[in-house]
Amino acid sequence: KQILILNGPNLNLLGKREPEIYGSRTFVDYLETIEQAFPDVQIRYFQSNHEGELIDKIHELGFTVDGIVINAGAYTHTSIALADALAAVTAPAVEVHISNVHAREAFRHHSYLSAKCKGVIVGLGLMGYDLAVRYLVSLGA
Ligand code: DQA
Repeated sequence: KQILILNGPNLNLLGKREPEIYGSRTFVDYLETIEQAFPDVQIRYFQSNHEGELIDKIHELGFTVDGIVINAGAYTHTSIALADALAAVTAPAVEVHISNVHAREAFRHHSYLSAKCKGVIVGLGLMGYDLAVRYLVSLGA
């Protein structure tokens, strides 16, 4: 099975960025843990700070992978275009947020992506990605 993990803007700074909110571990380090936990799954990882690049990646892999785990960062709250891209492809998606967006500013409470996803995991830290991969791998198993 193949799962695409997509991280949006500022998530390249995980480990350095507001560690009290997002933790002190880098995503690349965490990715190794995921890969070890799912030895039979091919994890495709892509991070971009650019909305169009995230859309291009969804188009490129969204018809072939078995699932998409997406943390679109702040684009979650702004991007109809990313929502349209998720709706356009066939792979099921799970939306992940490291922090509990509902315990934060009101502008983080709404997501354009949630309605196009099978489900949403928020506030469980990096483990949210792990749980999302587990769920997507279990689909159609
Ligand atoms: C985030 C939450 C977003 O509101 C924020 O803009 C981020 C990270 C999270 O993982 O908690 O960049 O998606």
